[in-house]
Amino acid sequence: MSYAAFYQESIQHPDTFWDGEAKLIDWHTPYTQVLDQSRPPFAKWYVGGETNLCYNAVDRWLPTQADKPALIAISTETNTEKTYSFAELHLEVQRMAAIMLDLGVKQGDRVLIYMPMVAEAAFAMLACARIGAVHSVVFGGFASKSLATRIDDAKPVLVVSADAGMRGGKAVPYKPLLDEAIALSAHKPEKVLLVNRALDTMQFVAGRDVDYAALREQHLDAQVPVTWLESNAISYILYTSGTTGNPKGVQRDVGGYAVALASSMKHIFCGNPGETYFATSDIGWVVGHSYIVYGPLIAGMATIMYEGTPIRPDAGVWWSIVEKYKVTRMFSAPTAIRVLKKHPPELMKKYDLSSLKALYLAGEPLDETTSSWIASELGVPIIDNYWQTETGWPIMSIARGIEDKATRLGSPGIAMYGYNVSIINEATGAECAPNEKGVVAIRGPLPPGCMQTVYGDDQRFVQTYWSNFAHEQLYSTFDWGIKDADGYYFILGRTDDVINVAGHRLGTREIEESISSHPQISEVAVVGVEDKLKGQVAVAFAILKHPELAATPEAAKILEAEVMAVVDKQLGAVARPSRVHFVPMLPKTRSGKLLRRAIQAICEGRDAGDLTTIEDPTSLQQIKAALVV
Ligand code: PRX
Repeated sequence: MSYAAFYQESIQHPDTFWDGEAKLIDWHTPYTQVLDQSRPPFAKWYVGGETNLCYNAVDRWLPTQADKPALIAISTETNTEKTYSFAELHLEVQRMAAIMLDLGVKQGDRVLIYMPMVAEAAFAMLACARIGAVHSVVFGGFASKSLATRIDDAKPVLVVSADAGMRGGKAVPYKPLLDEAIALSAHKPEKVLLVNRALDTMQFVAGRDVDYAALREQHLDAQVPVTWLESNAISYILYTSGTTGNPKGVQRDVGGYAVALASSMKHIFCGNPGETYFATSDIGWVVGHSYIVYGPLIAGMATIMYEGTPIRPDAGVWWSIVEKYKVTRMFSAPTAIRVLKKHPPELMKKYDLSSLKALYLAGEPLDETTSSWIASELGVPIIDNYWQTETGWPIMSIARGIEDKATRLGSPGIAMYGYNVSIINEATGAECAPNEKGVVAIRGPLPPGCMQTVYGDDQRFVQTYWSNFAHEQLYSTFDWGIKDADGYYFILGRTDDVINVAGHRLGTREIEESISSHPQISEVAVVGVEDKLKGQVAVAFAILKHPELAATPEAAKILEAEVMAVVDKQLGAVARPSRVHFVPMLPKTRSGKLLRRAIQAICEGRDAGDLTTIEDPTSLQQIKAALVV
């Protein structure tokens, strides 16, 4: 079948199309309705069907490949490597599930997972899925305030964490940050389960903190049956940044997600049982959920869980893993490739990469230089794919499992099946002509696997995502884009205040709120500024309560470091601005709205655009002046 026909079928007959795809997973109870869209924009997939993500990822493979590798945990930081077969993974997940049940976790309860990239993190996610608990994984790079916000929103009964992670040869403590977060949060989790890696000392809080290794010993023979869940039960919550300072809890279902992953693993990632998949992301991001933990396992593949950087002990380390484990499909982000490009290519050439069939890149724009370079180094197709935490799997890419259509440099590809994508003129609500810039929007229903709602806030879901165009209720991606005459899309950046630093999605408002908590700051604007390596970096412009404090360059440097330390402590180093400039005034409209886009344009050496509403044009001069200091 041509991809065009496959795509058309998915859009015109979603019921029959997704009924067919649903056969890719196992159901305990058949569904009675493929799609319920009686309450748009909410879409319920596979109503009445019962299944389980953990069952499809683990148990389902026991009869045919119990002894084949399932989870390969590699840490180039602690120099450890361990492979768990499907049978071993099954045992470990049941042990973890038994511990959770013992600690009082019940179906529907939330479990917050704040973990480095260790096998136990995957056990915990799968154990939650097994017993019907809702996991909320928080990226290890986030610090206490980010964590506290998420604890208060998800209200977990249990937190699973560890003493520390490790990065670049240094221990990165987790437990003290977690303790601080719990001290800050209004909601107090009853129990904290701790994996002790002996990287840092841990203070156990009596009555609350429990040791994983000790409890595991008590549950070595645990048999925890799968809890069958209605397809629309909540599988997990994953927080993501948006326009406001409060991250949104993206809520996902069970059945639709399982089908979307099985389907995308087949048609887009072309993975086969018995092969090895290597996604270099982190379980704290959506790529880690979909394509480190659930997707590859649901496809019967071994998946690699990697703790470390791409360049330690040297820039050949990923390729040595590809050789050793005969990785067939690899998934990474453009920033990582740009980092590798700075190192001698011989380090890559040293290894036998003949197992590798394709490299998938996502999370941020893939520039042509990086794409061409890695394609020629590896000699395999480079498949850009565009999607979001909200969608859980690619909106745009090339479905090579259906038809090996050509890729186009600078484009993440064409609309993936199930997604009725349009480029919409923001002002008129009309569909844009080919090559005309507009907002990337999707006509409902969103396909299986996409977010069900904002956790605990249906209204916010409708208002944030589905109320941006006057004439029609369409899902907004908050990305600018164009579609060329052949249906290839090009992504041109966010329409909101979200920035993308090294593929990490961050909200400038959250960073601004954090900086504002410094006692000397009266006002601040944070913008994303183009960066050759990281795609974008955050740059802050702050007004001091007492400007004389930054009168000399030395004094300004000290204050800048202080402000950065506040962000590090509250949000984590991942959100730290690359510069904090002190200015006497910020450009605003006459009604007091910050002109972030004008600031961003000046930082990038572009024209500041339409300034008819600006209150005081000299404020822009001050931004320019600050940049040259
Ligand atoms: O702005 C787009 C950018 O990353 C955003 C989504 O980030 P996140 O929720 O972290 O999900 C990442 C899943 C891979 C998008 O709204 N983005 C993602 N992929 C691409 C991209 N921009 C350009 N090209 C891409 N391939």
